[in-house]
Amino acid sequence: MKKLMAANWKMYKTRTEASETAAALAKALSGRIPEKREVLVIPPFTAISTVVDALAGAPGFSVGAQNFYPSAQGAFTGEICPDQLLDLGCSFALTGHSERRHILGETDEMVGRKTTFGLRAGLKIILCVGETIEERRTGKVEEILLGQLRVGTADIPTSIKAESLTIAYEPVWAIGTGEVAQPADIITAHAFVRRTILELFPEVGADIRILYGGSVKPGNCSEIVNLDNVDGVLVGGAGLEAGSLTDIVLA
Ligand code: PGA
Repeated sequence: MKKLMAANWKMYKTRTEASETAAALAKALSGRIPEKREVLVIPPFTAISTVVDALAGAPGFSVGAQNFYPSAQGAFTGEICPDQLLDLGCSFALTGHSERRHILGETDEMVGRKTTFGLRAGLKIILCVGETIEERRTGKVEEILLGQLRVGTADIPTSIKAESLTIAYEPVWAIGTGEVAQPADIITAHAFVRRTILELFPEVGADIRILYGGSVKPGNCSEIVNLDNVDGVLVGGAGLEAGSLTDIVLA
């Protein structure tokens, strides 16, 4: 299983900035991406096509989307469907990112609809889960993760291919705060996610990747990515610059 080193660019970068970063990344990592790693860049919608072009011909890179609407097409003003993303050259998409759950109000059910629809449409999905600080303080981490995983994957056939679904454990309190979870907390949460996906997907659960996300930086990535059941990272802030993202990919 290759470790997935993913950078979510959120609502940052014009097309020129995205293209410059992607080109610098392709150059810095040319011939250097370890065999057991793959790199995923997740730009805003407006820069997807630009980044696909900038990374064309660079082995080891994929491009993903941050969001989509779970319908094939139709009167959904402002939304983007999986076929439109596939058409741009996207192979991955996120669902359930904490900013969409907490700022845009997406429920576990909506996240589940998106996850199932995206997979059926042919996207590889990274389903993000994670507890708030209040939920951690009140001892609800496992309850929250269990609910988000169960509802988030409710309609996915158990015969799914392991590489099409990835889970990202991202404690909400560690996202964009500089406060990274302690290794022991990451190990405990990832072991719980692994047990849960093995129950939900007995045939392929062992091979479904589990990423850690939340204040990953060049300085802490190596320790995190080598912990048990950590199959890659989902990086926000530290993935915006080519130099820093290169160090993370090679950490
Ligand atoms: P961060 O964001 O690395 O800036 O904490 C992580 C994420 O939102 O996936």
